[in-house]
Amino acid sequence: MATKVVATAFGGPEVLSVVEVDVPAPGPGEVTVDVKAVGVNPFDHKVISGATGADPARLPLGVGVELAGVVTAVGPDAEGADGPLAVGDEVVVRPVPGGAYADAVTVPARNTVPKPAALPWPEAASVLSVGATALHALQVVAAKPGETLLVHGGSGSVGQLAVQLATRAGVTVVATAGERNHELLRGYGAVPVTYGPGLADRVRAAAPEGVDAAIDTIGTDEAVDTSLALVADRSRIVSIAAFGRADTGITLISGDDPETQVRANAWKTLFPALLDGSLNIVISKAFPLERAAEALEFVRSGHAGGKVVLLP
Ligand SMILES: NC(=O)c1ccc[n+]([C@@H]2O[C@H](COP(=O)([O-])OP(=O)(O)OC[C@H]3O[C@@H](n4cnc5c(N)ncnc54)[C@H](OP(=O)(O)O)[C@@H]3O)[C@@H](O)[C@H]2O)c1
Repeated sequence: MATKVVATAFGGPEVLSVVEVDVPAPGPGEVTVDVKAVGVNPFDHKVISGATGADPARLPLGVGVELAGVVTAVGPDAEGADGPLAVGDEVVVRPVPGGAYADAVTVPARNTVPKPAALPWPEAASVLSVGATALHALQVVAAKPGETLLVHGGSGSVGQLAVQLATRAGVTVVATAGERNHELLRGYGAVPVTYGPGLADRVRAAAPEGVDAAIDTIGTDEAVDTSLALVADRSRIVSIAAFGRADTGITLISGDDPETQVRANAWKTLFPALLDGSLNIVISKAFPLERAAEALEFVRSGHAGGKVVLLP
């Protein structure tokens, strides 16, 4: 049996319930994983709210898209991204059909990538969704060394990784954040700017030579309109959240896009960078699995200051 958190209705975090479920033995191409850490994402809230589909037939609904753990059983022909899997292998799983908020899961082996032994469980469970998104966004805007990139939400989980990957590549980064996160962004080599009314003027002052490209991780009209006002080439404005603004000609990206090799291979860039210290992921808070509703509420606040994890 496994402990699992499911949504019993569509709504806010209060619809989450802790239940006991059977963990099926792995079939062909599957593995069972003993879960050590689960990454909590704003997307999880969108799913339980019904924003991605509210068919009651989907209830009770598993929640969560990523986790890290140890393989405990292997079905026939179970191959992960790096080859055949064995009991005892440490893996990161994403996506997790059936939901990641659980202490044991049986999943398709092809959804696993190998976790480096030295990478802590919370970091391993949290970095793939946000890191793959940051890499995808950076690929779209194609900022070159010496160019200036505006990142809306530079203090968010996707934003922090996009900022670091860009500054490391020699790009000048201006990033928006609440004031309490400005020091963090300076530490990443970015110029922090406070979001809110007058944003475009503050960015102009911070980047007097202009802005070549923009990544929006927030999705507000303020973020989109500021990017449109400052970046001449609309194909170099990408948003991961402003899906209502497609009419502006900016690029909207998601994990469902057909061309996602950059996302599938993200672990090959992210894991070594975390291990050699050239990339930092902030784990702002950990909750026990049973307190998943509280964890999701904290993420929903929009100011978690980094990743939130569940520790079964
Ligand atoms: N399309 C995709 O592929 C994809 C993938 C991953 C995530 N997403 C989406 O991207 C968004 C961000 O995800 P995340 O994990 O980075 O979120 P997060 O870690 O919760 O970060 C939230 C960010 O929003 C900022 N913020 C809060 N209120 C704001 C406001 N009124 N104006 C401007 N900025 C504000 C916060 O700044 P302060 O805390 O400094 O105030 C922080 O930087 C979510 O909507 C998520 O669902 C999309």
